[in-house]
Parts: sequence; C-alpha cells; structure tokens
Amino acid sequence: MAVQYVTQALVLIFSIITTLNFIVCMEVTCNDKERNALLRFKHGLSDPSKSLSSWSAADDCCRWMGVRCNNMTGRVMELDLTPLDFEYMELSGEISPSLLELKYLIRLDLSLNYFVHTKIPSFFGSMERLTYLDLSYSGFMGLIPHQLGNLSNLKYLNLGYNYALQIDNLDWITKLPSLEHLDLSGVDLYNETNWFELLSNSLPSLLKLHLENCQLDNIEATRKTNFTNLQVLDLSNNNLNHEILSWFSNLSTTLVQLDLSSNILQGEIPQIISNLQNLKTLELQGNQLSGALPDSLGRLKHLEVLDLSKNTIVHSIPTSFSNLSSLRTLNLGHNQLNGTIPKSLGFLRNLQVLNLGANSLTGGIPATLGILSNLVTLDLSFNLLEGPVHGKSLEKLSKLKELRLSSTNVFLNVDSSWTPLFQLEYVLLSSCGIGPKFPSWLKMQSSVKVLTMSNSGISDLAPSWFWNWILQIEFLDISNNFISGDISNIYLNSSIINLSSNHFKGRLPSVSANVEVLNIANNSISGPISSPFLCERLNFENKLTVLDVSNNLLSGNLGHCWIHWQNLMHLNLGRNNLSGEIPNSIGFLSELESLLLDDNDFYGSIPSTLQNCSMLKFIDLGNNKLSDTLPSWIWEMQYLMVLRLRSNEFKGSITQKMCQLSSLIVLDIANNSLSGTIPNCLNEMKTMAGEDDFFANPLKYNYGFGFNYNNYKESLVLVPKGDELEYRDNLILVRMIDLSSNNLFGTIPPQIAKLSALRFLNLSQNSLYGEIPNDMGKMKLLESLDLSLNKISGQIPQSMSDLSFLSFLNLSNNNLSGRIPTSTQLQSFEALNYAGNPQLCGPPVMNNCTKMKQVLERGNSDAGFVDTSDFYVGMGVGFAAGFWGVCIAIFFNRTCRHAYFHFLDRLKDLVYETFVLKVRRTIAVF
Ligand SMILES: *[C@@H]1O[C@H](CO)[C@@H](O)[C@H](O)[C@H]1NC(C)=O
Ligand SMILES: *[C@@H]1O[C@H](CO)[C@@H](O)[C@H](O)[C@H]1NC(C)=O
Ligand SMILES: *[C@@H]1O[C@H](CO)[C@@H](O)[C@H](O)[C@H]1NC(C)=O
Ligand SMILES: *[C@@H]1O[C@H](CO)[C@@H](O)[C@H](O)[C@H]1NC(C)=O
Ligand SMILES: *[C@@H]1O[C@H](CO)[C@@H](O)[C@H](O)[C@H]1NC(C)=O
Ligand SMILES: *[C@@H]1O[C@H](CO)[C@@H](O)[C@H](O)[C@H]1NC(C)=O
Ligand SMILES: *[C@@H]1O[C@H](CO)[C@@H](O)[C@H](O)[C@H]1NC(C)=O
Repeated sequence: MAVQYVTQALVLIFSIITTLNFIVCMEVTCNDKERNALLRFKHGLSDPSKSLSSWSAADDCCRWMGVRCNNMTGRVMELDLTPLDFEYMELSGEISPSLLELKYLIRLDLSLNYFVHTKIPSFFGSMERLTYLDLSYSGFMGLIPHQLGNLSNLKYLNLGYNYALQIDNLDWITKLPSLEHLDLSGVDLYNETNWFELLSNSLPSLLKLHLENCQLDNIEATRKTNFTNLQVLDLSNNNLNHEILSWFSNLSTTLVQLDLSSNILQGEIPQIISNLQNLKTLELQGNQLSGALPDSLGRLKHLEVLDLSKNTIVHSIPTSFSNLSSLRTLNLGHNQLNGTIPKSLGFLRNLQVLNLGANSLTGGIPATLGILSNLVTLDLSFNLLEGPVHGKSLEKLSKLKELRLSSTNVFLNVDSSWTPLFQLEYVLLSSCGIGPKFPSWLKMQSSVKVLTMSNSGISDLAPSWFWNWILQIEFLDISNNFISGDISNIYLNSSIINLSSNHFKGRLPSVSANVEVLNIANNSISGPISSPFLCERLNFENKLTVLDVSNNLLSGNLGHCWIHWQNLMHLNLGRNNLSGEIPNSIGFLSELESLLLDDNDFYGSIPSTLQNCSMLKFIDLGNNKLSDTLPSWIWEMQYLMVLRLRSNEFKGSITQKMCQLSSLIVLDIANNSLSGTIPNCLNEMKTMAGEDDFFANPLKYNYGFGFNYNNYKESLVLVPKGDELEYRDNLILVRMIDLSSNNLFGTIPPQIAKLSALRFLNLSQNSLYGEIPNDMGKMKLLESLDLSLNKISGQIPQSMSDLSFLSFLNLSNNNLSGRIPTSTQLQSFEALNYAGNPQLCGPPVMNNCTKMKQVLERGNSDAGFVDTSDFYVGMGVGFAAGFWGVCIAIFFNRTCRHAYFHFLDRLKDLVYETFVLKVRRTIAVF
C-alpha cells in the first residue's frame, strides 16, 4: 500500500515539476531591446492592411505575427513578413536599421512586399548570423550592396523578381561558400560574361541556381566546373544563343531540374544529355532547336516533365519514349514532327499532359492513348491526323479535362448514347469532324468553360437543352456550320459568343451583362435592332464590346438607345435592310474603333456627333443613300485606317485636310458625286507612302493593332481589280485609293508617285486631264491602276515599265498617245485595256508606231523607243521580277495568297487559343 502511495506521490510530483517546467518555458518572453527594435522597424513601414496589428508595445514580441523566438532564450530568430495571402496589402516604406539589434536573427523573409524605389539596405550585410534571406518579388531597385558578401553563413539567398536590381560585379557572391540556394532572376547580368565560372568555382555547395531573365547570352565554361551538387539549374528567358553544349551533361549527375526554355539555343539536342540520369524535369521549349529527337532521351528514366515545344524539331517521335515510365508531362507541340503517333505512348501510364499539337503528324489516333487513365490534357490539334476516333477508345479517360483536336482531319465517331467518364472543361474541336448530327454527349458535360466546334460539319437543329447548357460556358464558337433554330427567345450569358455563318433565324436574342463579344453575322436574323435588343433590359452595366449582326435581315432604324452600350468598340450591322437616318446617339459610343453600316438603306448626312468617336479606325458606310458633303472633321480622325463611303450620294469636294490621315490604308469614296480636284499633298499620307511597313513589324499588325478583338476580326469588301473581294486577314496589307466614278477634274497630282506602298489606285470615270505623272513607276508595289474614262493625254511615261507587280491596268478611253513603253507587264495586257486612245501605238495595240513616227518625233524625242532586242531583254527581267514578286505581293496569285493566309490564320488561332486559356487559368488560380 505504502509503496503504491509513494509511487503515486512521486508520479504526482514529477508531473507537477514537468508542468512547472513547461510553464517556465512558456514564459520565456522577448527581450525589451528587441521588442523596441521591432517597434521602430514597424514605425518606418506603411501597413495598409494592418497585418502588423499584433505588434504593440504591451505584448510579448515572441507572439507577434511573423516573429519567432528561440524557445529557451527568447531572442528573435526569425522574421517572416511575407503576406499571408493575396487579400493582404503589402508592406512598404523604409526598412529601419533597428533590425541590427536582432543579434540572433537567422532568417529574414520580406518577399512579396512593395518596397519600390527602395534600395536593399547595405546594413543587411551586418546581420552576421543570417542563413536565410528572401527579398524576392518586393520591388527593390538599385545596386545590390556588396556588403551581402559578409553574410558568410548564408545558405539561402533570393533576390529574384525585383524591379530593377543591378550588379556592378558578382565578386561579393564568391564570399558566400555555404550558399545552397541562389536566385537572382530578373537581375541584369549582361556585363558579367564570366558568371558561370565565377559561380561554379566559388559556390561548391550550391543545390539550386535560378537565373531566369538575367540577359545572359553565353556560358563561357571552358574548364571543369565545381557544381558537384547542383540539383536545379534555371536559365530560362535569357538570350543564350549557342548549341546545347555537351558539358551540360558533364555538369553533374545530381541535376534534377534543367530549365533552358525561352532562349535562342540552336542545333540538335545532344545524345549525351542522357548522362543526366537523375533528371526529372527537362524544359527546352521556346528555342530554335532542330534536328531529330535523340533516342537517348528514352533513357532518362526518372523524367517526369519533358517540354520541347516551340522549336523546329523534325522527324518522328522515337519509340524509346515508351521507356519514360515516370513521365507526367510530354509537350512536343509547335515543332515539325512527322510520322505517326507511336502506339507505345500507351505505356506512359502516369502521363497527365500529352501535347503533340501543331506538328505534321499523320495517320490515325492510336487507340492505346485511351488507356492513359491519368490523362488530363490531350492536345493533338493542328496536325495532319485523319481517320475516325472511336468513342470507345476515349471514354475511359476519366480524368480528362482538356480535349483539343481542332484542325485535324479526324472524325469523332460516337453515337448518341456515348457517355464518356470524363467531365471536360476545354473542348476544342473546330475544323474536325463532328456532324452532321448535333453532338448529344455534350449534354452530360457539366463543367465546360470553352467550347469551339466551328466548321465541324454540323447540320442540325440546335437542341433545346443546348441553350440552357451554354449558360455556364465562357467561350462559345459554333460558327461555320449549318446549325438552325429560332433564337428569338434564348438568353445568352457567355463572354464570347460566335454563332456566325449558320442558319439561325428569328429576332435578336437577349444577352446578359456578361456578354462581351456577340457575333451572329451571316444568319437569317430579322426584325428591328432597337427593341427589344437595344432598348430593353437596360438595368445592368453591360460589357458588350463587339456586336456583329452583319449579313442578316434586320430592318427598321437604329433607334436611340446607344447611350446604354458605351463599351462597344466594334459595331457591324452591314448588309441588312436597316433604314432611316444614322441617329445622333451613335456619338455616345466613344470607345468605338470600327463602325460598319454598309449595304443598308440609310439616308441623310453623317451625324456630326460621330466626331466624338475619336478612336475610330474603321468606317464603312458604303452602299447606302447618304448625302450632303463630307464633314471636314472626318479628315481629323487621327487613327482612321479605313474609310469606305463608296456608292452613296455625297457631294462637294475633297479638301487638302485629307492628307492628315497618316494611318489611312484604304480610302474608297468611289461612286459618289464629289467634285473639285485631287489634293496635291498625297505624299503626306505616311502609311500609303510606305513609312509604316507591315513586313518590318508583322506582329504589331497582327495582334496589337488593326481590327482584332478577342477572336473577332473585321472584314471589308473592296473592288481592287474590277471584282469585289472580301478582305479579312489580309486587310492589313491593303493600300488602296479609289476615287472612281465621281466628278473630279484637274490633273493627277505628281505627289501621288510618292505613295510607294500603294497597291490599288482607281481614278477612273472622272474628268481628269493633263498627263500621267512622270515617275509613276516609283509606285513599286502598284498592282492595279485604273485611269479609264478620263481625259488624260500625253505619252505613257517610260517609268511605268518598272511596275513589275502590275496585274490590272485600264487606261482605256483617254487621249493618250505615242508608243506604249516596253516591259513584260505593259505588253501582257490586252489591247482592250488601252482602247479608246486612238493615238497610242506599239504592242499590244494594233497601231504601228512607224506609221505614227512623225507624230511621235514631233511630240517627244526618244522616250519610250527601244528596238526589238531590248524588248526581249526587258521581258526576261520583267518576267523574273514579276514572278518572284508574286509571293511578296501576295495579292497577285490566288494559290500563293491562300497558302500564306492559311498560315497566318493557323498562327492566329493558336496564339489566340493558348493566350485565352492561359489568361482564364491564371484567373482560376487566383
Ligand atoms: C524549442 O525549439 C527547438 C528547436 O526549434 C525544438 O526542437 C523544441 O521542441 C522546442 N521546445 C519546445 C518546448 O517548444
Ligand atoms: C573546386 O573546389 C575545390 C575546393 O572546394 C577547389 O580546391 C578547386 O580549386 C575548385 N576547382 C576549380 C576548378 O575551381
Ligand atoms: C566531361 O567529363 C569527362 C570526364 O570527366 C571529360 O573527359 C570531358 O572532357 C568532359 N567534357 C567536357 C565537354 O567538359
Ligand atoms: C527500354 O529500356 C529497355 C531496358 O533498358 C531496353 O532494353 C529497351 O531497348 C528500351 N526500349 C526502347 C524502345 O528503347
Ligand atoms: C452567367 O455566367 C456567370 C459567370 O460565368 C455565372 O456565374 C452565372 O451563373 C451565369 N448565369 C446563369 C443564369 O447561368
Ligand atoms: C455564310 O454562311 C454559310 C454557311 O451557313 C457559308 O457557306 C458562307 O460562306 C457564309 N458567308 C460568308 C460571307 O461568310
Ligand atoms: C476598262 O474601263 C472601261 C471604261 O471604264 C470599261 O468599260 C472596261 O470594262 C474596263 N476594262 C476592264 C478589263 O475592266
């Protein structure tokens, strides 16, 4: 008994002591001096979201947010002030040197704050015990202080992604031999040509090195390096412009992650890369690597991520890839791979992302891909694949979220009872076979965010479930099919909606506040636009930016509700039966960049309120009954690129102010009743004069500029060579002036010859007289010239024989005389194109020049006269120049043009798709 009591007492005492001990430990509080230092530090900061509210004089500083103390001594060891989540506003302000009083600080993390315009304090170099310093993403700028080289205990240093950090040299880093993790991403190291040798020889413990976006353009590493422990090497987003050197594979067999993406690396991927036996991630995307994929890649058996996309790699996918059994991501997209997709990819059971898009792969889609049960993304789009994809082979892919088969020739062969296990989010099936039946399997897909089924052969009534089903979709494109149905009573809620080129009918549907792009062009929509579409349901702030209902059967007038649609940037109501005057309220559309009301029955004058729409780049009011004079403010619209007013009843003259339109690429005011002379300042029109060149900067034109908006692009019908043609992608290349069929008189101003970028010039059917300007031949790109039905006299200038792209010429019905200059082009036109000029002679017209020689000699001495041998010489040169010009001129030859714009289209589609999806995902992540 006694023993038992004693034992119990002992146990009790023991536990009391333990508890006391515990309490004592708990009561280790922070040092006064350190608390005051922290308070002074806080005092210097601005803390808008009060994340430091727990820092108050009365409390134990060891319990403050972000402060950690040693549990025995109570001294501050760690200060971690990185914001907890994105709801918090960042700290900014001044970093007080009072931090130096935290003598035992080993870890300091100020990342993701906002110390803009602040230098990294040099006193950080005196915090001797620091082993961990993270100042990334915090807006620091200026020179990195050398004093950081005094932190000889430092193991982790992250200065990545600040605003404008600079170094004068890297010598201070060589004094940090314990460093295991170094991140200088975003620091300009361009001048430090010796960086690799310097780091590798002085930092033998380094495990991770991140130098993303450091302006590095070479690696000078001639000797053996000392990076014997390196696991992570990230040199992405630099300008490295050599081959993948074989020494990379000597680098270290410890390397786990190698990222050289977005550089300018060239040559083939060396076989020897397989020496990096522990590699898990290999990222070489976005370089200029060429050649075939080395078989040896298949020996990297730990590889989990292999991204070689956006290079120019050729040949087929090696069968050795089937040995990459740990692979989770395989991205070979945007290369020039050919051959078939190996069946053996079915062995990659861990694969989650398979991207082979935008190559030249042929054959069918192997059924073995259907056993990749972890697959989340499957992208085979933009290939030459063909044949049916059987529903059975895909239905087990229960984790699939992204299916991309756009622009392949495959046909999705599923019946109406197909119920796949997946729930897709991204369904991209444009230009591949789906129809003729509407795909009913979509009905069970309840997570779709993006659906594109444009040009997929669907010829069916849109089922009634469909309109409800799409309410949750963000991006919908079912254009270019034969889908029918009355859409009067549907409600649209997606941000981007493209129903164009189908057989929809009824009145305009209602749209929710979410809709940004609504394209219903080329259907059979009828009824008025004003009510209910424009004028009812206005109790919301709508986002509509693009409205295209062109080529439908709308009737009535434009209404007066435009004040409610002020986000509109592109409005296309062309080719309908709309009528009445253009209302003043159109002037509320101050963001408007394009206004197309062509081919309707509008009458009256252009409302003066339209000058409020000062962003306008594109105006098409052609083929209406508009009258009155051209308003003078129209010549002051500084962004105007396309002005098409053809076939109206405009009168008055064209003023000199027209020449202010320096961005203009299309001026088509043909077929009106304009009078007066052609302004003699045309040379001031910069774009027409070739001072802003498409070929110098194609990207600017394709994506940043022009008429693109979110999958939407304007088109324009022009009459460049006597026939109507629709321009869309290639519109940006057009340079055109068409003043034909007016009452213009006077001479053709010689300044016109300065328009060296002009491709199409039509001045026919006016009352112009005088001579053709002498150096017209300097308009090197001219493809079409029509001066017919005027009173132009004199000789055809010799310089016109230099117009080697000229493929349409009409000089008929003038008073021209003399020999037609010799060149392939001028002689290749039929005599008819010179008809009605009785005094012209020489081929191709019948008149013999010797007969008219006397006339000739009296008029002009020798201009234009060459003997026959010269004629044939001229022909050879002209032919060659003309032929090769075809592919530069683009408009010349239909096949060539088609191929080129098919290419542009494909490019655009891809850029677009990847861009949108990226943005959406980023949003989803936050
Ligand atoms: C004190 O800190 C050390 C090291 O951080 C830790 O291992 C130990 O468990 C802590 N003791 C108490 C009682 O929290
Ligand atoms: C590699 O490091 C060792 C010591 O860590 C040093 O002696 C040697 O000189 C270094 N090698 C090179 C090439 O710098
Ligand atoms: C790679 O290492 C081997 C053995 O250490 C050596 O013989 C060879 O020269 C090295 N190659 C390069 C390019 O450094
Ligand atoms: C896959 O690896 C095995 C074992 O290393 C090897 O024998 C085989 O040839 C490899 N397969 C291919 C297709 O390279
Ligand atoms: C409309 O779209 C929004 C945003 O995508 C969504 O939150 C909302 O539920 C949708 N409305 C209906 C009626 O489905
Ligand atoms: C209009 O749509 C039909 C298909 O519905 C298509 O064949 C035609 O090319 C389209 N026209 C235009 C101008 O896009
Ligand atoms: C040339 O112009 C005349 C008069 O305008 C016209 O009758 C003729 O059809 C035109 N020729 C061609 C090839 O367009």
